[in-house]
Amino acid sequence: MRIGMLTSGGDAPGLNAVIRGAVLTGTTVHHHEFVGFKDGWKGLVENDTLPLGRHEVKGISKQGGTILGTSRTNPFEGRGGVDRINDVFAENRLDALIAIGGEGTLAAAKRLTDAGIRIVGVPKTVDNDLDATDYTFGFDTAVGIATEAMDRLRTTGDAHNRCMVAEVMGRHVGWIALHSGMAAGAHAILIPEQNTSMDQLCAWVQSAYDRGRAPLVVVAEGFTLDGADQPHSERGLDAFGRPRLGGIGEMLAPMIEERTGIETRATTLGHIQRGGTPSAFDRVLATRLGMAAISAVDDARWGEMVALRGTEIVRVPFEAALGKLKTVPQARYDEAALLFG
Ligand code: F6P
Repeated sequence: MRIGMLTSGGDAPGLNAVIRGAVLTGTTVHHHEFVGFKDGWKGLVENDTLPLGRHEVKGISKQGGTILGTSRTNPFEGRGGVDRINDVFAENRLDALIAIGGEGTLAAAKRLTDAGIRIVGVPKTVDNDLDATDYTFGFDTAVGIATEAMDRLRTTGDAHNRCMVAEVMGRHVGWIALHSGMAAGAHAILIPEQNTSMDQLCAWVQSAYDRGRAPLVVVAEGFTLDGADQPHSERGLDAFGRPRLGGIGEMLAPMIEERTGIETRATTLGHIQRGGTPSAFDRVLATRLGMAAISAVDDARWGEMVALRGTEIVRVPFEAALGKLKTVPQARYDEAALLFG
């Protein structure tokens, strides 16, 4: 078979391990050939291809980013659409496509599969918010990076008796904040799923400070104070004139300082969380998903994605991952909150 492959949406550490897992299994075990498409759906629509064989995937598991490049292009926009993609399939003599991406990618893949295009998906997001899979690769790496950063923030916070606020990724859900905050022993964790008042936050900060600690507050970029008090739109525009995704950490720091009198500093970790070497856990998960995607192609499981359930790799229909996000359950937050303050 000739199999196309693309990576789409925000990158996540482990993408290269998926590509390697799929290409090595596909070429050596099943004698498939591969065609790489550059920069996600954009490369498919524009028929912009890259060679993809054993040579190209040599030693790439440990590399961050993606050798195929990525973009947030929608395959139905511009000159894209079902007919165009069918033409590109024909020009490249493709039998199938493996699309590696998050919710947007899988939603597009579902529309294309419904129109008869043969696609298997591999789920990806550092935010870990995709339903129908227990974990996504990239999340473990992001949590590790955020935890290490917070360990560092704590020593400088301790030295100056300051409250340190760390803003982490998670525009819709608080998985990175919850896990990195627990790992680093945060005194407060603020996530989009939970309403937390300024009074409650300052009480946690004050209680930690009174015990001689430098308070550490972890906030997910999508958190809004008291639910609706501070919608994203009020955070203004970034330097490029786009609505700011984050900025909540910078907003909270002076408010904490004003109310508690405790000197406070904010750090936004941003894209550092998505860069660099994937953790061993993410490499293994990503490699297994890549290998499983080849089995799914061999079994003609179009319209399905490979996913992690417990320790097993399973197959689920695209629609199982679409429509609702995997949010942090109340019980997980309550468990973490027992140790706040
Ligand atoms: O989708 C993952 C994510 O990392 C979000 O947490 C973050 O808000 C967003 O991507 C950043 O996207 P971009 O790289 O396009 O700025």
